[in-house]
Amino acid sequence: SDILLLNGPNLGILGKREPEVYGTATLADVEQAVGDEVAERGWKVVAVQHESEGELIHAIQDSYDTVGAIVNPGALMIAGWSLRDALANYPRPWIEVHLSNVWARERFRHESVIAPLASGVIVGLGALGYRLAARALLGVVDG
Ligand code: DQA
Repeated sequence: SDILLLNGPNLGILGKREPEVYGTATLADVEQAVGDEVAERGWKVVAVQHESEGELIHAIQDSYDTVGAIVNPGALMIAGWSLRDALANYPRPWIEVHLSNVWARERFRHESVIAPLASGVIVGLGALGYRLAARALLGVVDG
């Protein structure tokens, strides 16, 4: 089985992007870490990162046969209504991740339009959050 690891805008440059906020792990490190966590179940990771909402939506539409997903929407958390609708039609459980503690930051980051649809949300734990999301998926997905 596959899981979808979906990262939104500005997350491809992880490691070089405001490292004091987002840490020094690269996206490749994150993808590797998630793969390590789910390997025990024999799952593989389909890792996708796009800068634009439309491409992220295509990736979701193309992933209905995955068993679950981990989603960091980046700033699309704020007003990504089409991303939200795409996730509403995604048939499997998914976990939202934010590296930074969005509630310790600007007010415009305090609400996520996709969060009400997530099985759970992990915030503020840096790259470890993706590992924890992978563990969570192992728990909420049967089989
Ligand atoms: C982020 C938080 C968002 O508010 C921000 O726009 C990002 C990264 C995080 O992982 O902390 O791009 O999703």
